[in-house]
Amino acid sequence: MIPTQKLEDYSQEHHATWRFLYDRQKAHLQGKASQLYLDTLAAMSATLTSTTIPMVENMACQLKKATGWSIEIVPGLITPSAFFKLLSQKKFCTSTWVRRKDQVDYIEEPDMFHDTFGHIPPLMNADFGSFMHRFGEVGTALSNDGRAFQVTQLQRLYWYFVEFGFIREAGEAKLFGAGIMSSYGETTHAWESRHHLKSFNLAEVMSTPFQTDVIQNDYYILDSIPELERELNHWFERAF
Ligand SMILES: [Fe+2]
Repeated sequence: MIPTQKLEDYSQEHHATWRFLYDRQKAHLQGKASQLYLDTLAAMSATLTSTTIPMVENMACQLKKATGWSIEIVPGLITPSAFFKLLSQKKFCTSTWVRRKDQVDYIEEPDMFHDTFGHIPPLMNADFGSFMHRFGEVGTALSNDGRAFQVTQLQRLYWYFVEFGFIREAGEAKLFGAGIMSSYGETTHAWESRHHLKSFNLAEVMSTPFQTDVIQNDYYILDSIPELERELNHWFERAF
């Protein structure tokens, strides 16, 4: 069964929790988040707001018109190959459940706030959208070919850039990854770590395991998203 989202399934408490998460995080990110993220969040303001839990269909429509990307609803975590395939079709995936109010500071499994507030806005940016599309194509080719080790390497790239990366803008380190954008605690922690970042190096990142259940200690800073896409292509050519 294809999961759907119905406005009537959310209670006033769900909407209030969403509003709290959105408003608190948006304020917390000022001066810390990359301009890329802040600009794209502003660009989504017609459909991704603090007022109510956003409707995926509306966000997808706005995104599609702007960039050709779309959004698919999924029940929760999906397999890497299913995830790569969606990205290769320029589709990002989101859950539609929102955490309880006693979970505003920490949640184990990504909820809709993480999936949308964290991941959707940067897809309005052409460079990031292009990188994610290529990432999906590369991942699909490697999983179809049964390259489990290379898939793990790709997951590390995703973790250290898409989830927990910094990017350099006008010479300054700015927060970028969705795991940071969607978490008050990660934002504080990452921002305090900004003077101890490692330069983003694809080979190093791909050989560095990560843990999903602890706060990050290793953060990498990237200078150029198009350059990362070129490096990914070179790596992919050598992987086959
Ligand atoms: Fe995520």
